[in-house]
Parts: sequence; C-alpha cells; structure tokens
Amino acid sequence: MNIEVFSQRRTQFFQQLGKASAILFAAPSQVRNDDNSFPYRTCSFFYYLTGCREPNAAAIFSASSKAPFQLFVQPKDSMAEVWNGRRLGVDLAKDVYGADACYSIELWEEKFKQTLPHTEELFLLMGIHRKQENHVLDILRNHFPNRKNGEREVVAIRKLQSILSPMRMVKDSGELALMRENCTNSARAHAKAMAATRPGLFEYQIAAEIEFQFKYQGASDLAYPSIVAGGENALILHYVDNKDVLRDGDLLLIDAGGERGLYASDITRTFPVNGKFSPAQRQLYEIVLQSQKAAIQAVRPGARFHDAHDAALRVLLEGLLRLKILTGSVEELMKDRKSYGAFYPHGTSHWLGLDVHDAGATYQRSGESVILVPGNVLTVEPGLYMPTDDARVPAEFRGIGIRIEDDVLVTESGREVLTEGVPKEIAAIEALVGSGSVKI
Ligand code: GLY
Ligand code: MN
Ligand code: MN
Repeated sequence: MNIEVFSQRRTQFFQQLGKASAILFAAPSQVRNDDNSFPYRTCSFFYYLTGCREPNAAAIFSASSKAPFQLFVQPKDSMAEVWNGRRLGVDLAKDVYGADACYSIELWEEKFKQTLPHTEELFLLMGIHRKQENHVLDILRNHFPNRKNGEREVVAIRKLQSILSPMRMVKDSGELALMRENCTNSARAHAKAMAATRPGLFEYQIAAEIEFQFKYQGASDLAYPSIVAGGENALILHYVDNKDVLRDGDLLLIDAGGERGLYASDITRTFPVNGKFSPAQRQLYEIVLQSQKAAIQAVRPGARFHDAHDAALRVLLEGLLRLKILTGSVEELMKDRKSYGAFYPHGTSHWLGLDVHDAGATYQRSGESVILVPGNVLTVEPGLYMPTDDARVPAEFRGIGIRIEDDVLVTESGREVLTEGVPKEIAAIEALVGSGSVKI
C-alpha cells in the first residue's frame, strides 16, 4: 500500500492520541530450532501504523516532540545483509516510511526516556508482546522525573488497542482492494482444491494443492494453518494434522486462506470426497447452507454484530428440531447455549483483516453488540457437528461435520461477499468435485 495511506492513518491516530505518547514494536522473531527462525511476520498493529515489515524495529509517537513520529530500524550492515537479506537502513527508511526522524534500533530506549519528561499518559500494546511490554514498564518503574525542572511523570498507562482496534475495524479503500484481491484468489484456490479431490488421496495432498494455489496466485503466506479434515476429523474444529486418507462416502471440510500484503482471507467449504452428497449429508448440508445465507442477509450497516449469529442459530435450531435431534422451542433453545453446544460449539463471525481473528475482538461496547458500519469485514461461518456418541443423533448423521464460511464486507447499501468465487450450492459442488487433478 502506498505511503500516503499510512500517513493519513497516522493523522487520524495523532488526533486520538492528543497530548499522550505511544510506543510500539515490530514482532520479535521466533526461533524454530538452533539458528533457524520461523518465517518472519511482523506485528499487525506495528505495520498498520508504520507500513514497516522489518524485524527489530520500533516507533514512538508523541505530538509534543519535535519529531512526532520517530522510527527505529536495523542499520545497514553489509555482512548481516549477505546472510539475512537487504535492509533499508536508517536514511532510506525515514523517507520510505515517512518518519519525522529515524534512528538505529539500539537507540529506542534512550529516545524513549527523552520523551518521558513530557509524557503524562502513555499508550502501549498490552498482552501481545509481553517481553517488550515488560521492558517498557521496567523503564517507567525506574524513571524518576526531576520535578524542580518541571518534568512530568507518566501517571496513566493505557491500552494502545483502545485507539487502534476501532480504527482497524473499518477498512479503507487500500485495505479493501487488497482484501478483495486476496479473497478472490483464495476462493479460486478452494475451487481448485475441490476439483482435485477424489477418494484415496490423503488430506495432506489436498492441503498441498490448496497451499500451492494460494501461493501461486501471489499469497506470501497462509493466513493460518490449513484445516483439511476428512470424515470425523471435521468434528475437531482446529484439526491441522491433515494426515488421513480421504474415504469414499465421507465429507471433506477445508478451512484455509491465503495471506497477501499481510491481509488474511478465511474460507471454509465442506463437500463429498466422491462428488455426491449422501441423503443424510445433504439434509445436514442444506440446513447449514440456509443458515449461512440467512446470516449473510443479516449483515448490513446499522445491524448488530450478533444479528448474523442469531439468524444463523435460528435456522440451525429449526433444522435440528425438524430432525428431532433437539426438542423444545427455538426461542427457549436460543437462550440456552448448553442445549445445542454439542452440535454448534463456536460463534458465527469474527472480524477479518490483518489478522484472521482481527482486532476488535470483544465485539461489544458497554455490554451492547457492536453496530456494523460500512468498511467492516467479518466472516460468516455457521456449522453443524454431529458427535459419534450422542444418543440424540440418529446413526446416519453421526460423525458428520459441516461448516461453510465466507468473508463479508459491510457496504453502504448492504454487503458484498468477497469469497463467492468458490461454489457452495449442492449442484455446483457436485459438478466440480473430482473434475481436476492434483499435480504430481
Ligand atoms: N480459520 C479460523 C476460523 O475460521 O476462525
Ligand atoms: Mn473464521
Ligand atoms: Mn476459517
């Protein structure tokens, strides 16, 4: 995204920061083993404000400072760059990221201490990178202002997420362009994986197919570990072993998404391994599909975040009552999560953006459901999961797990489904499954 986007974002941020200061850091890199690291991916909040993806970076924001946006990056180092890749270095980084001042990362603590005599209120990310958080708190514990010189003291430490999460919940046009592109590509990858599925392949082969497709189309990473769950494995919500054979007569649930430009997609489809739904699979699938469609219709500006969940749950419960798996009334069941929790243990939606479970995770303000506004992006992902050992479940339904998940943008006039490129109607799925091939 272009530098202007980040600059506009920071203007909005400074308005909310007022006289307070803020500090945040790039994510620490994670050792995988010995001198091997996991692929580096920075902190979404840090990227959101700075546009910088490099490791070993930090930023201090303070409107009262001569340099309100101070950035700290790795200095140029020819030997380190031979081993680990190019660095912008201090001088270039200042221009590229639009900082008011840029320094080598070693200087962040010294410069931070220089802002403290002017700071009464400090915003800090809390609960994300604990080591960095504790380092800053330690500096504050050991800071003794010189009151005779009129130095101020930090008297309030605030959660930086309280400013940045609401900002991240409303996507701007640059973010939406990226998300549309990534969701379209990821949907195409799902369709390819569906086409490649046939009995006898292993879950990891379909995982390989979809992950190849994500990356071939430009994703730099997976948004989260792919869930490729045949048969009863679909009952495990976060199944990532992806090791079993795909059996004729089973369903396959794929929950996977690519990450592009650091933005996530999150898509689930469930379909028959052999390309033909059994009557029992079809009955349950229709319920989940109708539930998902009802929930998508409930996404619109002015609606409550939880309206989609209520709409989805109502259709799921009506279906479970029709199948006599549950008894009672929809109204009573809806009030009692325990009554249906065995069949629908998760929520229907979460925000989507830089993180797959994006910022703003409480979904409530002052105890009330958040009201949707244009620019929000959320998932809609109802499911039904039939335990293998629940006496209420007729034999033909046991062990079936179904989830359907799309990514939905709230628009001025309603909604836009960003992931509609992958089929979810029964006829379209049956026409597609098995029509392509896994590359060898
Ligand atoms: N893939 C994670 C989720 O659907 O929330
Ligand atoms: Mn999701
Ligand atoms: Mn998902």
